Amino acid sequence: MMMSSRYLFWFFVLSVSRLAGSASPALLFQGFNWESSKKEGGWYNSLKNSVPDLANAGITHVWLPPPSQSAAPQGYLPGRLYDLNASSYGNQDELKKLIDAFHQKEIKCLADIVINHRTAEKQDSRGIWCIFEGGTPDDRLDWGPSFICRDDTEYSDGTGNLDTGEDFKPAPDIDHLNPRVQKELSDWMNWLKSDIGFDGWRFDFVKGYAPNITKIYMIQTSPNFAVGEKWDSLSYGQDGKLTPDQDAHRRALADWVNAAGGAVTAFDFTTKGILQAAVEGELWRLKDSNGMPPGLIGLQPGSAVTFVDNHDTGSTQKLWLFPPEKVMQGYAYILTHPGVPSIFYDHFFDLGLKEEIGKLTAIRARNGINEKSSVKILAADSDLYVAKIDDGVIMKIGPKFEVGDLVPPNYQIATSGQDYCVWEKK
Ligand SMILES: *[C@@H]1O[C@H](CO)[C@@H](O)[C@H](O)[C@H]1NC(C)=O
Ligand SMILES: *[C@@H]1O[C@H](CO)[C@@H](O)[C@H](O)[C@H]1NC(C)=O
Repeated sequence: MMMSSRYLFWFFVLSVSRLAGSASPALLFQGFNWESSKKEGGWYNSLKNSVPDLANAGITHVWLPPPSQSAAPQGYLPGRLYDLNASSYGNQDELKKLIDAFHQKEIKCLADIVINHRTAEKQDSRGIWCIFEGGTPDDRLDWGPSFICRDDTEYSDGTGNLDTGEDFKPAPDIDHLNPRVQKELSDWMNWLKSDIGFDGWRFDFVKGYAPNITKIYMIQTSPNFAVGEKWDSLSYGQDGKLTPDQDAHRRALADWVNAAGGAVTAFDFTTKGILQAAVEGELWRLKDSNGMPPGLIGLQPGSAVTFVDNHDTGSTQKLWLFPPEKVMQGYAYILTHPGVPSIFYDHFFDLGLKEEIGKLTAIRARNGINEKSSVKILAADSDLYVAKIDDGVIMKIGPKFEVGDLVPPNYQIATSGQDYCVWEKK
């Protein structure tokens, strides 16, 4: 007994260290924006042309739009979940070819999983849209009003469980405590893996259901990588400005990750919000009271996916836009700091920042910066932020040119641009 448990222990240690050493640290790419569904010739076909550029930049995972038939072209009002042919991004074959093209370059693909709510196929005898169809010849995902949360009074027959999260007004909220819902959604996600080729998930609007529900789908589908969108408002003062302390905001993100089982990550909305305020002459915001980065990356970096903008905050919606002329400062920060950085299609291609961003991703890769790299903040003033990452990289953002003796002589400039610079140890 003694021998075998010791053997098992070493087997575990060796396999874990081998796993840790094999894959390069994750680097995400959001492969669409709010207008992509309108692309002539189909978005899937179009994005396939970008695969070589993304492979060159060291992208490890690409986040693709919601794949199913949807009442809105962008995919966020899905109905027939198994029907991938009625998507405005392209059909099932085109999607599979796109995923194959990414896989050939060893880039994994994340599906955008929209499961808080669902749109119906037909009305019931009361004239209410609550008859759902899965998009298969059999009855998988063919649901009725009893599968809807009973506090969603408009669509439910009152027999579903209460919603475990926030209500989504435009569509019926699914009762995730229903065992058939859990089983059939898990089966569908596993089909996206086995038959379509997806490797992991981006969970949409996770505030819509309890974190223990995300945990169930994580366990039943074992994704290679998963990230949840828990988008809460930051704290603003009476002057309309961000308050200096956003600790509660990032703690809510960490609490969500932990309650969801700890394997899923979360978009670091805290870092996003603070960073875009900080680059407007308030770089002091980038150091918390413990001397650490103020976002989720300063609290639980292994759970954080950092980003500058996405299809909601940026693109044509511009719901919470990063100052466009300062986007590169945003990338200089997230691509040198811990967490898993995510690069947005619009910045990389439409703003023409492919080369500039590529220099930063190369520095990240060369120096082995990963989601848990250490950060030592050397300056956080209004006009200058300087940080040392691990032992090999120093970066600065901000208009102040002179960094004094913060950068030792054995460091040399690796890349620089408007109001940012990155040094590597010689
Ligand atoms: C979508 O098209 C593919 C390929 O033609 C086909 O195999 C699949 O059954 C179709 N799916 C639906 C829901 O019609
Ligand atoms: C998940 O949390 C909800 C409340 O938020 C609770 O009603 C439910 O019983 C929990 N489910 C499990 C499986 O723990």
